[in-house]
Amino acid sequence: MTTSPLAELSAHVAALLARIDALPTRAELLLDEPFIVGKRSILSTLQKSLGALAPEDRKAAGAELQEARRIVEEAFASRRAVLESENRAHELEKDRLDLGDVVVSRVNAPLAVGHPGIVAATQRELEDVFVAMGFTVSDGPEVESDWYNFEALNIPPAHPARGMWDTFYVDLGEPETVVLRTHTSPTQIHLMEEAVASESLPIHSVMPGRCYRRDTPDARHLAAFHQIEGLVVDRDITFADLAGVIETFTHAYFGEDISSRLRPAFFPFTEPSAEFEITCTICRGDGCRTCSMTGWIELGGCGMLDPAVLAAVGIDGDEWSGFAFGFGIDRCAQMRHQIADMRALIDNDVRFLRQFS
Ligand code: FA5
Repeated sequence: MTTSPLAELSAHVAALLARIDALPTRAELLLDEPFIVGKRSILSTLQKSLGALAPEDRKAAGAELQEARRIVEEAFASRRAVLESENRAHELEKDRLDLGDVVVSRVNAPLAVGHPGIVAATQRELEDVFVAMGFTVSDGPEVESDWYNFEALNIPPAHPARGMWDTFYVDLGEPETVVLRTHTSPTQIHLMEEAVASESLPIHSVMPGRCYRRDTPDARHLAAFHQIEGLVVDRDITFADLAGVIETFTHAYFGEDISSRLRPAFFPFTEPSAEFEITCTICRGDGCRTCSMTGWIELGGCGMLDPAVLAAVGIDGDEWSGFAFGFGIDRCAQMRHQIADMRALIDNDVRFLRQFS
């Protein structure tokens, strides 16, 4: 009697299942595939040997072998699924960008954290200079009524001086009654009103902040810029006190080699009034594009408080006198750092900004 070629079939199946179970990785599974379920497997060899059986035995043996193959192929497929999923997880883990790792790897070269902008830094420096000179620091609203921005400063409606400060109107209340402030001078009025109400005169204060004008941006102008206002209201204040404060400030902030000069000017809220100029720090007085070839740069205006302004806020001009000044913070930053074109301050070019860190 001939031995059936399938006599060892269940032992072969058991061996194949153990081998499948032991496959450690997807790569080895692919290598072993031909020997487990492919053409070089024992199952294929047995399949071929069925041809030697008598036709009446062949059908049953074929069915038995078919069932064995189904079991092995099922086990192989489920092992493949497990190993492929493990493989995918491994690949993902390998490619994962771990931000924690990035941060840790930068511990020796920490991420840059930025620094205050030039204008903000300049404002702080200016405040420090004035605080050292005995001034306090206050602020006021950027949106003002026509009264504070113009009328209380002795600029009635239709006054030609309004043309000096063409502005943006805010769509609030009566038409053309609410404006983005064109200068920090309205804070003078707020401070004096508060001091009158709280009977806390004298005042020695600076008030920095943002202002707006319909100015076309150029080397010395922006449409949104910053000023710092100064206000002194006290007894026996003279123009010499004003000139002394301006001179002390110029040397403290720009250095002893930069000169200042006051030139007669007109402001409706000061009398007499002056323009405050310093030597152009870019050409050191020789004349350049930034200073329009004059050698001087106007920083701001100043003057003695006009009696009409004192009267508007209810301060007795016979007892009190004072002065005010207002100058551009952006203009100061420009002169201090020798920036030829002020528009660089708002371009946000990091190559420019990094120079001031
Ligand atoms: C005034 O604004 C007055 N309020 C100054 C003043 C205060 C006079 C107190 C008397 C007493 P003026 O318009 O000249 O003045 O502006 C003052 C300064 O603000 C200028 O010299 C300049 O430094 C700065 N400034 C004015 N307009 C601009 C602008 N568009 N961009 C940048 N800076 C500007």
